[in-house]
Amino acid sequence: MAVLVTGGAGFIGSHTCVELLNAGYEVVVVDNLYNASEESLRRVEEITGKKLTFYEADILDRERLTEIFQKETIDSVIHFAGYKAVGESVQKPLEYYYNNVTGTLVLTDVMRKNGCKSIVFSSSATVYGDPEVIPITEDCKVGGVTNPYGRTKFMIEEILRDLYVSDPEWNIILLRYFNPIGAHESGRIGEDPKGIPNNLMPYVSQVAIGKLKCLGVFGDDYDTPDGTGVRDYIHVVDLADGHVKALNKIAEMKKNGADEVKIYNLGTGNGVSVLQLVHAFEKVLGRELPYEIKPRRAGDIATCYADPSKAKRELHWEAKRGIDEMCRDSWNWQSKNPEGYSK
Ligand code: UFG
Repeated sequence: MAVLVTGGAGFIGSHTCVELLNAGYEVVVVDNLYNASEESLRRVEEITGKKLTFYEADILDRERLTEIFQKETIDSVIHFAGYKAVGESVQKPLEYYYNNVTGTLVLTDVMRKNGCKSIVFSSSATVYGDPEVIPITEDCKVGGVTNPYGRTKFMIEEILRDLYVSDPEWNIILLRYFNPIGAHESGRIGEDPKGIPNNLMPYVSQVAIGKLKCLGVFGDDYDTPDGTGVRDYIHVVDLADGHVKALNKIAEMKKNGADEVKIYNLGTGNGVSVLQLVHAFEKVLGRELPYEIKPRRAGDIATCYADPSKAKRELHWEAKRGIDEMCRDSWNWQSKNPEGYSK
């Protein structure tokens, strides 16, 4: 029995493949390599000393996906595949809705036609919009999302909920990630963004390596301790481990029957500001990082961090790594792979 990982060659996907293989799962990856490299999967095998099965395929390709389900014995699916750039999604809403939403519709339809009704979906804290209460619990209001990318996550959550109502044989877990950073401690796999990074940590690492000149800090007048935005950064290996724990939960749901769609925040519960992260990174680096204060970025919120206690209670999962380890491992990956996976 294998677990199918869509988007398994990407940043979170590749780290999850490592943890799945280490936990003894058989892994089948489907990835169209649009925003990922097959090299990451080679390195996953190198790290674990185990083999996985890779299909270069698009989840929008119903025939290909059906073939894969018929060839492999897929027990459950972890669904990462999707476009993920907030800014780009504003420019290309149709592409984002088509790829993310339709991709999920095709995937889940092929799944049910092949008797596989267990899925862990890669959602995001972005579904909470500007949160009403901090720390954010799973019961907080969702849907006030400000960009198409975030809305695809919200819509897919709704679709999966409707799917469960229509057929309670489905076992569905929605994982809402906070801000994943860091890398595998080997420094062999990590985040490899195309072009100029949008997110804070890859931007910081590229300033550190000298590819970019200076970090722009988007606003220092938020209602936060130092005025810069506060987020819940989570080590990607902890996040990956959360998926293994979610699969354990799926196994339990299969046995006892699922009474609902399960939702979990995956975060640390600690808020860290932009400047705190910069200073933690400087400690690892042993020198200062050039930054300048810029205007606020449109759509950003002041503070976002999780109450992760439900995941602890029900998944027996908890983030173990702190911000110093996150910075150390991000820098280890970046400094060993200045060009990412490209040779
Ligand atoms: N920031 C900067 N300079 C930069 C980049 C970011 O100051 O060059 C700041 C932002 O203003 C924010 C913080 O760093 O305060 C984090 O920004 P990121 O872009 O790294 O992350 P976001 O919290 O904006 O977005 C992330 C994911 C999204 C997800 C969202 C909510 O990238 O996919 O969290 O969960 F939707």
